[in-house]
Amino acid sequence: MHYWVVVPELNYIYKPAASGCQGFDSRSFRWAQTMRFAIKEINEDPSLLPNITLGYKIYDSCATHVAALRATLSVLNGRKEVSSMMCSGASPVKAIIGDSGSSQSIVVSRTLQPFKIPMISYFSSCACLANRNEYPTFFRTIPNDYYQVKAIVQLVKHFGWTWVGGISEDDEYGRSAFQELHKEFKKIGVCFAYYEIIPKVYSRKKILDILDIIKKSSAKVVIMFGGEGELYPLLTEYVQQNITGIQWIASEAWITASLFSPREFYPSLGGTMGFAIRKGEIPGLKDFLLKVHPSLYPDNALVKELWSTIFGCAFQPSNITDQSVKELPLCTGHESIEEKFSVYIDVSGLRISYNVYKAVYAVAHSLHNLINCEPGKGPFDNFTCADISNIKPFQLQHYIQEVSFTIFGEEINFDNKGDPIASYDLMNWQRNTDGTIRFVTVGLYDVSKGVGKELVINENMLNFNGDQTKVPSSVCTESCPPGTRKGIRRGEPLCCFDCLPCADGEISDQTDSIECIQCPEDFWSNAERTECISKEIEYLTYDEMGATLTVIALFGACLTIGVLAVFLHYKNTPIVRVNNSELSFFILLSLALCFLSSIAFIGQPANWSCMFRHTVFSITFSLCISCILGKTVVVLMAFKATQPGSNIMKWFGPIQQRIMISACTSVQIIICAIWLIAMPPFPSKNTKYQSSKIILECDVGSTLAFWCVLGYIGVLACMCFVLAFLARKLPGNFNEAKLITFSMLIFCAVWIAFIPAYVSSPGKYTVAVEIFAILSSSFGLLFCIFAPKCYIILLKPEKNTKQYIMGK
Ligand code: TRP
Repeated sequence: MHYWVVVPELNYIYKPAASGCQGFDSRSFRWAQTMRFAIKEINEDPSLLPNITLGYKIYDSCATHVAALRATLSVLNGRKEVSSMMCSGASPVKAIIGDSGSSQSIVVSRTLQPFKIPMISYFSSCACLANRNEYPTFFRTIPNDYYQVKAIVQLVKHFGWTWVGGISEDDEYGRSAFQELHKEFKKIGVCFAYYEIIPKVYSRKKILDILDIIKKSSAKVVIMFGGEGELYPLLTEYVQQNITGIQWIASEAWITASLFSPREFYPSLGGTMGFAIRKGEIPGLKDFLLKVHPSLYPDNALVKELWSTIFGCAFQPSNITDQSVKELPLCTGHESIEEKFSVYIDVSGLRISYNVYKAVYAVAHSLHNLINCEPGKGPFDNFTCADISNIKPFQLQHYIQEVSFTIFGEEINFDNKGDPIASYDLMNWQRNTDGTIRFVTVGLYDVSKGVGKELVINENMLNFNGDQTKVPSSVCTESCPPGTRKGIRRGEPLCCFDCLPCADGEISDQTDSIECIQCPEDFWSNAERTECISKEIEYLTYDEMGATLTVIALFGACLTIGVLAVFLHYKNTPIVRVNNSELSFFILLSLALCFLSSIAFIGQPANWSCMFRHTVFSITFSLCISCILGKTVVVLMAFKATQPGSNIMKWFGPIQQRIMISACTSVQIIICAIWLIAMPPFPSKNTKYQSSKIILECDVGSTLAFWCVLGYIGVLACMCFVLAFLARKLPGNFNEAKLITFSMLIFCAVWIAFIPAYVSSPGKYTVAVEIFAILSSSFGLLFCIFAPKCYIILLKPEKNTKQYIMGK
């Protein structure tokens, strides 16, 4: 019936004084009165325990286990405390109603254990007390905190809070609740920003420390488990410091605590939510409570304390010498408790009182059953019943475990752990018209409703802290958008994370993804990393580059045909005739084909185009170089033949020339044929170079064959170059050999430059480089060999004479 004790100084010099209880709790006083009321009702009830009068003794444990232990020992050693002869003998006590707080109940239960005296608590909710091995005689009419924790977890989940603070009183009740909360929160990914414990012994420094932590933390939702007496110092300091913006979640012990209903608590504590024990009604209780008056119980100090607390008066003039303390007026005894509103008299929400009432009735019904046991059908050894004149406590325990009865339509019984069925009201602290706090029921948590349906919230009625209707947010890190994933921060709880963008080729399509998903083959992530899109396919088409190259190739081909036309037209002029007109025509034709062959490289690679492009290119080039080679040989030999006695020229007539050219070209044709038969080039998808693109290219099939083909052209070109080089000094104004040397130089330079460019250029540029090499070497040949002749034919016809060409 008091909130706390003042522990006296303990030393060995004098006998320790009894610890003094302080802070009268008129709510608990009402609970005690409810017990008296229930016993009176039972005693007056002719159907329940007829001819038997229940007696009782009430002890105040002052919310501490020390006082609870003292009371228990007093009960067990009954005689010293009670002078009544009726109740003498070993343990006249059959059952205990209480204790209130869990830590007190634990002490009481442990002390009672050897005597097997059953106890029914009305307020000890700690889940630890459900352990039948440790507390075999413990029952309660308040639901196990196991369910309250489940309810709070659902509430937190419902509002999407993932980052919460925790504060508890320093005992089993607080600690075991938070242990359970930790476990449950871990499952749904909610973290505690902090967990602080208010020490049992008042320490202002610790309270200021805790408030500091609350203020500094980003957690805006704080769960607090504790009795009102324990929390009072913290919450008053909290209100004085004007801290706002904290959404409190209260445990059942303080969610309907009248201590915090005064006006000054409103702005700071308004909106507090929590689960309260279901309420009940006890008809007639109010009248009973009103009968309590100091004049009726002149020796009872508690009644006087009640009076002092309600009316703010004193029964004795205080002997305080301190002038600053205002003296209280004397109580007259004529004050009316009916007129002055007080927690004591407020029976609108009987929750714990109702639990007390049920507990008393449970004992009475059990006793009733025990007494009405039919001999020979009893529950004990050999079907015996208990001896009424000597009831053993364990026998009553058996009946309490089995008891089942109804009060106002509500069925009451205990499960095998001594717990009742759990159901709670969801409460919300709102503002009364007079500025005080009103506890409004805004929902329900009922375990019997079935999994997932337990919690019902009437959200329209809900007010959050600061009179808000919007759900406050309490998260450590805002959620990660799609396209990113959660990255753990070392040394911090899981709820605090960084949002890391997904890597290339990976996506996350949900908020708060833990991992990014790799896109399937042929797919790639979009820029936002939220979707896999099919990879871009790249090859050289008729885009700007492809089109330009095509135009150049066509232009080259036309130019070659043009030159051919000029040559045909002037085929009888000396300059054409002297230059081996047949070979020139061949060269021009094959050059035209070279230009055209480059076009085969443009477009999407297909099976046929891959085979076609390489073979056509290599054969046309071999043909062209073979012709030039033939020409060089003829030039060289023609001059050698001028020496007397030589008939070499016989071996280099037009027929031999043709044979030579076809032989040289056939070698290339054979290489190509082998290549195509053995390991032909084929189209392939290259994803290695750039993972975001699929490059469609022609795989050469056999690299060896590819380099053989190129190498053969290179060999032909080199031979041509060497021979032309030997012939470059030969006399004559129009020295063909010089031009060929020069053209071969350009040709070789282009192809040597091509090799590194080809190997290192990516994707479609490889093909472009190849086309470029083909075009530039063809242009090189065309210009070097034919430009000077065309110049003379078209612009300087006067030089187109035998004399001029033969020179000196
Ligand atoms: N249900 C709480 C408990 O089991 C009630 C409570 C908490 C309490 N602190 C208290 C009761 C202090 C009395 C005193 O402990």
